[in-house]
Amino acid sequence: MKILFIGDVVGSPGRDMVKEYLPKLKEKYRPNVTIINGENAAAGKGITEKIYKQFLEWGSQVITMGNHTWDKKEIFEFIDDAKYMIRPANYPEGTPGKGIVFLNVNGIEVAVINLQGRTFLPAIDDPFTKVDELIELAKKRTNIIFVDFHAEATSEKQALAWYVNGRVSAVVGTHTHTQTADDRILPDGTAYITDVGMTGPYDGILGVDRESVIKRFLTSLPVRFEVVKDGRTQLSGFLVTIDNNSGKATKVERILINDDHPFFS
Ligand SMILES: [Fe+2]
Ligand SMILES: [Fe+2]
Repeated sequence: MKILFIGDVVGSPGRDMVKEYLPKLKEKYRPNVTIINGENAAAGKGITEKIYKQFLEWGSQVITMGNHTWDKKEIFEFIDDAKYMIRPANYPEGTPGKGIVFLNVNGIEVAVINLQGRTFLPAIDDPFTKVDELIELAKKRTNIIFVDFHAEATSEKQALAWYVNGRVSAVVGTHTHTQTADDRILPDGTAYITDVGMTGPYDGILGVDRESVIKRFLTSLPVRFEVVKDGRTQLSGFLVTIDNNSGKATKVERILINDDHPFFS
């Protein structure tokens, strides 16, 4: 089983990269499942139903979210019907949407879980106890369990990965929008990367217009952040190969496509 994950898609520059490169990545790597983090897909903040459906049409099977899940108000109208969208599972009981989804890939089940960290992010429920609960649920059906841990602190991401080492196939970090070079397989078979990185503007600051971010640091005044409109773009991804029976990762590969790291088919 090969799972391709594409990190935080930011605005239309990010969506354009997915549209252009997903077919090429599929041809090159032949993934069985493609997952996209879409928390910034609509102008950097949240997602719309139209974009969710486009991501599925373009060839992904699951959309994961994060702290920006609720930014577009229309989310509340479609999240409960969006079968293949998951938001962090450790939001309090009663929050719309769900945090785990099961896929059937030619008779093989795959569980995908979304969680959010609590360090430098809103204090929601504990992702560690929540992941225990969800692993127990998933294990009744499959050993192939993929986790998108949307968190800020490297330590929290590493801690969660080691906590579930050997119990899930992969823990990929999202949210910081910058790809880390620590992709590896932990000793008991869990693939890991602290952050997959962002898909969108290459010359902004985390995808946002540089001027406004610099102004914020210079003045500490509230500044409106806009996604960079034109210019160079990039795609950040992660590919995990998993043994179907044991659910253990056997191979990991980082994917980064930009002018400094060109794509070779
Ligand atoms: Fe993000
Ligand atoms: Fe985020």
